Amino acid sequence: MAKQEDIFKNVVSHAKEYGFIFPSSEVYDGLSAVYDYAQNGVELKKNIREYWWKSMVQMNENIVGLDAAILMHPTTWKASGHVDAFNDPLIDNKDSKKRYRADVLVEDFAEKIHQKAQKEIEKAKARFGDAFNEQEFVTTNARVIEYLAKEKEIRERLGRSLGAGDLADVKALIEELEIADPETGSKNWTEVKQFNLMFGTKLGASAENAMDLYLRPETAQGIFVNFLNVQKSGRMKVPFGIAQTGKAFRNEIVARQFIFRMREFEQMEMQFFVRPGEEMKSYEYWKETRLKWHLSLGLGKENYRFHDHEKLAHYANAAADIEFNFPFGFKELEGIHSRTDFDLKAHEEYSGRKLQYFDPELNENYVPYVVETSVGLDRMFLAVFATSLKEETLEDGSTRTVLKLPAVLAPTKAAVLPLVKKDGLPEVSRKIIEDLKWDFNVAYDEKDAVGRRYRRQDALGTPFCITVDHQTLEDETVTIRHRDTMKQDRVKITELRGIIENEVSMKNWLMKM
Ligand code: GAP
Repeated sequence: MAKQEDIFKNVVSHAKEYGFIFPSSEVYDGLSAVYDYAQNGVELKKNIREYWWKSMVQMNENIVGLDAAILMHPTTWKASGHVDAFNDPLIDNKDSKKRYRADVLVEDFAEKIHQKAQKEIEKAKARFGDAFNEQEFVTTNARVIEYLAKEKEIRERLGRSLGAGDLADVKALIEELEIADPETGSKNWTEVKQFNLMFGTKLGASAENAMDLYLRPETAQGIFVNFLNVQKSGRMKVPFGIAQTGKAFRNEIVARQFIFRMREFEQMEMQFFVRPGEEMKSYEYWKETRLKWHLSLGLGKENYRFHDHEKLAHYANAAADIEFNFPFGFKELEGIHSRTDFDLKAHEEYSGRKLQYFDPELNENYVPYVVETSVGLDRMFLAVFATSLKEETLEDGSTRTVLKLPAVLAPTKAAVLPLVKKDGLPEVSRKIIEDLKWDFNVAYDEKDAVGRRYRRQDALGTPFCITVDHQTLEDETVTIRHRDTMKQDRVKITELRGIIENEVSMKNWLMKM
C-alpha cells in the first residue's frame, strides 16, 4: 500500500480513537459521508470557527455577522441558479456498477501527469543540489515540458466541454485518455449525465399542502437575501462584508476521503459588497488576505497553492481555489469568487423587490458587485489535523505519536497531573485547575505513570502538561512540559496563566497575519 494511504488511514483511526470524529450513527453501521464531531473534535472545530470569525468580524469594522436559517424560500434556489445548474457530471462503470464524477476522473488523470513532471523536477533538484535552477529546468527539460503541456491541454479541454455543457465530449475525453475505473480497471463506461446535488425536503403537515424545499447547498444565499436588511439596519457603507458560518448540504455523487467531501458539512463564508468595477481589486485583496490567514497557522507555506479556475461557475467572472496538500494530494480548501452582481440581480428579478444600494458619494443607486471567500470548516479541520499528526522517533529510540496542533486551536490547553495520587498532590492539582479553568480548557489526569500521561496528552494535542510533585508542597512551583519540544521548566504556579496565555491567545496568532 502506498505510504500516503497509510498516513491517511492513520489520521482516520487517530481521529476516532482519541475522540475527535466518529462515523454518524455508527451503531447502525454509519451513514455514508456523514460524521459526528466528538468531545475533542467539537473543541477543535469551534476554535477554527472562532479563529476565522475573529479575523473576519472582530478585526474588520466593515464586516458584520449573520446566522440565516438553513431552510429558505424555494424560489431562492431558482434565482440563484442552483435548481438548473447545480449539477455534477456523473458516469457509471457498466462492469463494476460504481459511480464517479466524470470531471474528477479527468482531473485526477491530469494531476497524475503533473506529479510525473514534479518527480522529474525533484530528481533534478537532488542531482544538481544548490546549483539547481527550477525555472530554467521547467522551461528547457523536454520531458517536463511535454508533461506540463499535456496536463494543460487536458484541463483546458475539460473546462471547455463542461463550460459548453458538452457531456459527450467529456465522455470522449475519458475514452481518449483511456481512463479506467480506479477500483477495477474496467473501461466500460456509460454516457455522462448531469445530477443535481441539492437535497429536497418538505414543509407542512399534510401531503397536499406540503411545500417542496431544499436544504441549503451553500450558506451564501442567506447573506444575499438579507443584504439590504443588514445594510439598512447596520447603516453599512459599500464596501462592506457579511460573514456567516453554518451547515450546508450536498448529495455528493462520490463522497469519499473522510471529512473532505461530506453530504452535510459546514462552511465559513463572507460576501464582500463593492462598487461595480472595483471587484477585481477586491478579489486580489481577498485572495492575498485569505492566504495570509491560512499561513498564520504555521502548517507550512509549501502546503498551499492557488489554482485559478478555467471553468467558471454560473455566477463568477473570476475564481480561484486555495489548495492544500492533504494526505491524498493538493485539493481545494477554500474558494475565492468574484460573483459579479449575479445573485443580487437574480433575487431582484425573482422577488420583484429592489436590492440596491444608494451610494451617497456617487449620488446614485446600484446593485453592488460581490467578492466571496468560502472555506469548508471540515476541510480546515482535516488540513490542520492531518498535518499536525506526527510519529516521532526520540533520542532513546522510542517513538511517540504527537498531534502538533497550532496551540491556539488545541481542544485542551493544559493538563494538570499530580505525580502520585496521594500526599495532597491531587488537591493542589485541583486548585490549579480551579484557577485556570476560567481562561482555558484544562484537564485533570491522575491515571498511570506520568510518562504515559504525557504520551496521552501528546496524542490529544495538548500544548502543556503541568506536573505537581512533592516540591510543589514546599515552594509552590510545578514543572510545565512543552508538547513539541518535551522541554520541562520549573515555574511558580502564579506564572502558569501568563505562560499558557502567551502561546494560545488568538491575538498573538492573528497578529502573525
Ligand atoms: N458559496 C460558494 C461555494 O459554496 P464551493 O467551492 O462549492 O463554493 C466552498 O464551496 C467550500 O466549501 C469549498 O472550498 C470546500 O472547502 C467546502 N465544501 C464544498 N463542498 C463540500 C463537501 N461536500 N464537503 C466538505 N466541504 C465542502
